[in-house]
Amino acid sequence: MYIYCEPEEKTLEVITVNLHTELIEKLYQCNLCHLCNEGNLGPTAFNGSMASPIAIVGEGPGETEDQFGVPLIGNSGKLLDKALWSVGITRDRVYTTNIIKCRPKGNRTPTVDEGSFCATRWLDNELAAVKPRIIIALGSVALKYLLNANARITKDRGKWFQTKYGIPAIATYHPAFLLRLTGKELVKAKWETFYDLQAAANRCTEIEPDYLLKSAAPLDLLALYSANKGKQRGISESNVRKENANGNELSHSL
Ligand code: URA
Repeated sequence: MYIYCEPEEKTLEVITVNLHTELIEKLYQCNLCHLCNEGNLGPTAFNGSMASPIAIVGEGPGETEDQFGVPLIGNSGKLLDKALWSVGITRDRVYTTNIIKCRPKGNRTPTVDEGSFCATRWLDNELAAVKPRIIIALGSVALKYLLNANARITKDRGKWFQTKYGIPAIATYHPAFLLRLTGKELVKAKWETFYDLQAAANRCTEIEPDYLLKSAAPLDLLALYSANKGKQRGISESNVRKENANGNELSHSL
């Protein structure tokens, strides 16, 4: 069957996919910081659509994400899916990634320095390849990297700001934070999250009215990525030592 593609569109799409694929291959080789020694299975990459006008940026992988190699698919991810569904978005129609690619030991919160070390090497290049039209920052770590280190999620959520990429962003509460709240605090924070996500969906529709933000049904991301479960990704420390001992140079330059 012959499928007609606009030549320029096709070229752009191919360039984006190639750039991105190359980047993710390099990401899996990364051993540039101490996080690769914190007992995780290796870097987690991204999920969703590279053609999406929306990129969601979380903090860093938790235990489930480390097991499956995919961002935001554990309890926080499930709550995120519900919240997105309520404003007309499904996860397959957005691009989801994290500031930090490797799970810090014991799920500790990454420091601002760890965030910027990782994100300047990986997230910045990812977003340059994907070119989203808007960014949703989930929680304080993403907000601090994308706005500035003094930003506060309670004060700055729900307000549009310009990122260094020239892409507008809005921050909202991290779902893990919502999962820790109860009673009136939870109700209030859930509504605020709803309004923040709704603002993002509306702005996206204004910018790209033809882009479909919602598929017919929500995705079961755990089921989708079940084949990845428990698999070591990239180069573990022992592999690095072995390869170096064999005289092979490992390149991490982008
Ligand atoms: N929290 C995040 O911010 N990202 C994940 O991938 C998992 C939990």
